[in-house]
Amino acid sequence: MTETAPRKIILDCDPGYDDAAAIMLAAGSPGLEVLAITTVAGNQTIGKVTNNALRIARMAGLKDIPVARGAVRPLLRPAVAVASQIHGETGLDGVDLPEATLPLDPRPAAQVIVDIIMREPEGTVTLVPTGPLTNIAIAARLEPRIVSRVREVVLMGGAWREGNATPCAEFNIENDPEAAQIVFSESWKVTMVGLDLTYQARASEEVRERIRAVGNPSSKCLWQILEMFAENYRVWRGFDSPPLHDPCAVAYVLDPTLLEVRAAPISVETHGTLTYGMTVADLRGPAPEGCNTFVALRIDVDRFWDLMVRAVEHLG
Ligand code: BDR
Ligand code: CA
Repeated sequence: MTETAPRKIILDCDPGYDDAAAIMLAAGSPGLEVLAITTVAGNQTIGKVTNNALRIARMAGLKDIPVARGAVRPLLRPAVAVASQIHGETGLDGVDLPEATLPLDPRPAAQVIVDIIMREPEGTVTLVPTGPLTNIAIAARLEPRIVSRVREVVLMGGAWREGNATPCAEFNIENDPEAAQIVFSESWKVTMVGLDLTYQARASEEVRERIRAVGNPSSKCLWQILEMFAENYRVWRGFDSPPLHDPCAVAYVLDPTLLEVRAAPISVETHGTLTYGMTVADLRGPAPEGCNTFVALRIDVDRFWDLMVRAVEHLG
């Protein structure tokens, strides 16, 4: 692989406004090649997020890639509530999207993940989960060799300070803590792009206007996504501008210089009552030799928005 070859990624997601924006960023960035989109229940039910993934894929011009439906519910815990307050009843309320044209791949998401990683040259595929980690955990159990074959896992989820689903836990991790613990405890390189990082990437009114001003169909779509997200975050969370979580993980794969990351052991609390689903990152000192888990600390916000703008310019 040459330096300029696009980075191959699999997006495992639950669209959702910010997942949809992540798909658009990936599809509109020549530095990335999207090999598949797999879905997982989270922001909405599996049927709704899968339909949304298919429609966003069409809008973003993704053709000839598998889109596969994944886990209906978490591994162990009872299904948790969907995030209708933030993402609406459909998961993408208020966004004009074309009907889906891509057929749904008949394989389960975890099988598609395994098939692609086993097919592609070793060390070339990056997994980018932006929803609960159920599919990724199942894939690792289905075919353990994927763990050494992937290049890395860059996930949106977790937090090393406060949570959002609970005071301690972030939504994606709290949705399936046992799956998350499997993912963090495998030997692949995992980077946790958590709330501490994504809260820095706020889609201010100025940013939203900049996206709108691009003036093409995909910028209109992203603008609608951001406006809906902004309104819901304002009403339900009291935020002036919404944090655009999921694209931060994609942006890191696209340009690792955008984020400052630090090696740190990370475990997921799976027994606590108040702390269930908390990601515990040990940042007390230098990480032990060979530590394969990383915490994202800071993002270059201006360059992040430049990437988003460039992606919609590219998509047309
Ligand atoms: C995460 O939760 C979901 O609602 C978003 O899509 C994002 O992946 C943020 O906590
Ligand atoms: Ca998500």
